Amino acid sequence: MNHPADTLVRPAPASSTGEPAQRFFVTSFGCQMNVYDGERMGELLTAEGMQVAEKREDADLVILNTCHIREKAVAKVYSDIGRLRRDDGSTPMIAVAGCIAQAEGAEIARRAPSVDIVVGPQAYHRLPQLIEQARRGATAIDTDMPAITKFGSLPARPRQPRPTAFLTVQEGCDKFCTSCVVPYTRGAELSRPFGELVDEACALAEGGVKEITLLGQNVNAWGGEDDRGRMQGLDGLIRAMADIKGIRRIRYTTSHPNDMTDALIAAHAEIPALMPYLHLPVQSGSNPILKAMNRSHNAESYLAIIDKVRAAKPDIALSGDFIVGFPGESEADFQATLDIVRAANYAQAFSFKYSPRPGTPAAEMEDQISPEIMDERLQRLQALLNEQQHAFNAQAVGQRMQVLLERPGRKHGQLVGKSPWLQSVHVIAEGAKIGDIIDVDIISAGPNSLEGQALQQVTA
Ligand code: SAH
Ligand code: SF4
Ligand code: F3S
Repeated sequence: MNHPADTLVRPAPASSTGEPAQRFFVTSFGCQMNVYDGERMGELLTAEGMQVAEKREDADLVILNTCHIREKAVAKVYSDIGRLRRDDGSTPMIAVAGCIAQAEGAEIARRAPSVDIVVGPQAYHRLPQLIEQARRGATAIDTDMPAITKFGSLPARPRQPRPTAFLTVQEGCDKFCTSCVVPYTRGAELSRPFGELVDEACALAEGGVKEITLLGQNVNAWGGEDDRGRMQGLDGLIRAMADIKGIRRIRYTTSHPNDMTDALIAAHAEIPALMPYLHLPVQSGSNPILKAMNRSHNAESYLAIIDKVRAAKPDIALSGDFIVGFPGESEADFQATLDIVRAANYAQAFSFKYSPRPGTPAAEMEDQISPEIMDERLQRLQALLNEQQHAFNAQAVGQRMQVLLERPGRKHGQLVGKSPWLQSVHVIAEGAKIGDIIDVDIISAGPNSLEGQALQQVTA
């Protein structure tokens, strides 16, 4: 979940003053919520008359939309800032946004003096003013978490360049897992209002989007009143989105086991547009470690949820997150993690070495695990998870499935799309185009993707 993603937004016309428009480039690190924020920043700057630079080297303003979750993610950003220096020693205007901005604030500009703007994840609607301030030569810093959210100050969603879109419905986290920075960088749990979300989804659908992924650090904690004043949970929001004309697929991520309600589980059985995929991080299979992590679920309660989900939707693809080498993790604790992986059987998973984060309780715990042990455990865990992923993909061979075509492939005439279970599918599909949902017969499976043969197109 840690791939840099360069934001694509449609170029705006040159500025009305006749001056060449200023060009910007956004690189997002970290989770999908950062990708969403990066897209919204791009849309905001485009509405202000700036243009997207084709290459980062051509940009007058570079925004690094950062992640603070692990030490490595932070180191990557500081080395990226260094790389922005041009041959003549000059730099573009540099803005550090996202979770490092929130966590480190003014310290960033002290450590990297070429940084002109530091803007937190709840303050980026003020980017135009911050850019003005930086143009006047001052370092502009805004890490406020205003009570009124940024969303109302952002322009409406324009037509999107892809048939799939992210939509942040919930932000922040109140769970305070002892290893995690998110409650500090993103603030308290907050659900965006129902009406605002339905409007944004409608705008996306009108712009050609067929699949929406609802996002939140704890997306299944979303709650709010619907248009008739009835309290709804995420299942109610999904139902409303499924009714929007043009929306064919809905996904949501990331869920916390404690907020996995029976109503949301039932939604998987009842709403055809809700895709059969659930990302439900467990982190560890050891109860003492889960307790030390402050996860407030244990191995048994997690597996009981999985059982319920599979009873409602037998073909669901399960995904998870794992941390190895949390302080105090013994070989027996780690074995319990392997056991829960065997019991749950994942289609996909993300696993990380524990990284001590400044200000979090776990960083102060005794019995920190050595890097060698962490490496070795991560390798064993990933070998098992890869085996499960491969087996999951292998089962697809011989099946016919619907694929939403998302982008061109490398070979002539090839397109790449996603199966309902979030597998990448490569397919030669004459006459089909990006945005189509087509029937595909799967002919082979690799560790990370499937290959298929297109039947006739089922929808335009
Ligand atoms: N709210 C979500 C997402 C949290 S961040 C959740 O609980 O699943 C994404 C993942 O990063 C977490 O699931 C966890 O596996 C990992 N993570 C969080 N803090 C970490 C740390 N200090 N070191 C290593 N991985 C960490
Ligand atoms: Fe971090 Fe835990 Fe919140 Fe997830 S639930 S964001 S791991 S504190
Ligand atoms: Fe990283 Fe912030 Fe997301 S710390 S994982 S970008 S919420």
